Amino acid sequence: MTSATVLEHVERNFDRSVSRLVNWLRIPSVSTDPAYRSQCRQAAQWLADDLTAIGFRAQLRETKGHPVVFAHHPGPAGGKGPHLLFYGHYDVQPPDPLDLWSSPPFEPSIVDGPHGKRVVARGAVDDKGQVMTFVEACRAWHEVGGGVPCAITCVIEGEEECGSVNMHQFLKDSKHEIVGSAAPTSPCDFAVVSDTGMWDVDTPAITYALRGLVYLEVTLYGPSRDLHSGLYGGCVPNPINELSRHLAALHDGDRRITIPGFYDDVRPLTESERSQWAALDFDESAFLGEAGLSEGYGEKGFTLLERQWARPTCDVNGIKGGYQGQGAKTIISSSASAKVSFRLVPDQDPRRILDSFRKWINGQLAPGCRVEIVDHGSGRPCLTPIDHPAMFAARAALKEAMGRDPVLIRSGGSIPIVEGFKSILGLDTLLIGFGLNDDRVHSPNEKFELKCFRAGQRSHVMLLDRFARMAK
Ligand code: BES
Ligand code: MN
Ligand code: MN
Repeated sequence: MTSATVLEHVERNFDRSVSRLVNWLRIPSVSTDPAYRSQCRQAAQWLADDLTAIGFRAQLRETKGHPVVFAHHPGPAGGKGPHLLFYGHYDVQPPDPLDLWSSPPFEPSIVDGPHGKRVVARGAVDDKGQVMTFVEACRAWHEVGGGVPCAITCVIEGEEECGSVNMHQFLKDSKHEIVGSAAPTSPCDFAVVSDTGMWDVDTPAITYALRGLVYLEVTLYGPSRDLHSGLYGGCVPNPINELSRHLAALHDGDRRITIPGFYDDVRPLTESERSQWAALDFDESAFLGEAGLSEGYGEKGFTLLERQWARPTCDVNGIKGGYQGQGAKTIISSSASAKVSFRLVPDQDPRRILDSFRKWINGQLAPGCRVEIVDHGSGRPCLTPIDHPAMFAARAALKEAMGRDPVLIRSGGSIPIVEGFKSILGLDTLLIGFGLNDDRVHSPNEKFELKCFRAGQRSHVMLLDRFARMAK
C-alpha cells in the first residue's frame, strides 16, 4: 500500500472526520471541575471505542483521577519499524467566561475565517482536534492499508489541564507494558505528541523544547479578623498591602526575577540558536497585535522568541483578598492570596525554585504576618535532541505532507508528562503540533482551522510511513 493512496483516502473522507471530531467535542470533559467527572469518563470511552473500531486493542485504565485511554496496535506482522508511543489528552480547560463565546463551547460550530472553515469549541485544538489528526491518519491506514504500518501504543490522558498529577504514577505502573518485558511486540522507541503549534498556517513545525512549570498559591495572614481601617490602619500589617509588596518585588526594573539563585541553573542560549531564531523573522507585531497590544514587553536583553522559548518567567495568575462587593467598605482584610506560576527552562528544577521562593518570601515578611504556600503542581522543562533519528524521518515526512520544510522551534507552553517519558521510560519525544498562535487556546472561542486539521492528518499519514521505514 502506498502512502499516496492513504492520503487520497484522507481527502475523500475529510468531511466525515470533521463530524467525528464534532461529536467528541460535544462531550464536556473539563478535568479540573468535579462536576464533569462522568463526562470525562464518557469522552475517554468515546475515544477507546473509536480506537477499537480501527483495529486497536483499547482500554480505560483507572487512576486516582480521570481514566487514561490505553490502546495498542501491533502494526504489520513481522514489521521491522519502531514502536511508537502516541500521547495526547482528552480533557479540556473550563469554558468560562461563557458570555464571551459567540456560540456555546460544547456545541461546536463550523464558521468561515481567512483560512477557510474552522471549528469553534472548547478543546477544538487543545487537544481533541490534534489527537484526532493522529487517529484519522490511523483510520486511513486501517481502511485502505489493512492496518497501521508500525506498532503503536496510545496513552491519552484526562488530566493534562490539571498538571498530569497522576501520570507519573501511571507511567511507573505501566512501564513494563510500554518499554519493559511485558510490552506487546517490542518496547516503545520514542514518543510522538500533537499538542503544540505549527509555524504558520502553511508551514509545519517540530517543537524540540517545552518550558516547565511551578504553580503555587501563596496566602498571607495578618490580624485574626477583618478590622476597621480607621481604627487600625497604619498600626497593624495589612495582608493585601504586604502581599502586593512581595508580588511587586518579584521583578526588578529590567524585568528579571529577583529571587536569589533563580537563574543559577538556566542553560544559556547558544549563539547559534539565537542567530537561527533571529533568521526566522518572527512577526512580533502580528503576535502582539492579535492580543490587542502594540509594544514589546519583557526581560531586558532578549527578543520576544527568546523570552517565550528559552527564558524563565513569573506571572501572577490570580489574586484575591478584602472587600469585593459594591461600593466602599473600610476594612483591613485578615488575609490575602495569590496564584503565582513560574515557567522554567532547562536545567531549572521545580523543587529548587519552589524552595527558593519559600525562603525569599519568608525572609521579608512584615512583623505580624504569616505565610502559607500551597503547591499546585509542577512540570520539568524538556529538550529533545535535534539529531534524534526520528527527527530526520519527521522532517522528511512533514515536507512530503505539506510541501514545505518544517521549522524547528521551541515552545513557551508546558506539557508536564513529556519530561516523564524521558526520566521514567527513557524515551525522547517528538512534538509535532498543528495549532496556530491565534487559536485562542484556553480562551473563549477556541478554534481549530480545518486546514490545520487536514494538514495534521496528512502529516501523520506520512509520519507513520516514514517511521515504518526507519531503521530501528
Ligand atoms: N497544549 C498545551 C501546551 C501548549 C500550548 C504547548 C501551546 C505549546 C503551544 C497544554 O494543554 C497546556 O495548556 N499546558 C498547560 C500545563 C499546565 C496546565 C500544567 C500550560 O502550559 O499552562
Ligand atoms: Mn494541550
Ligand atoms: Mn491546555
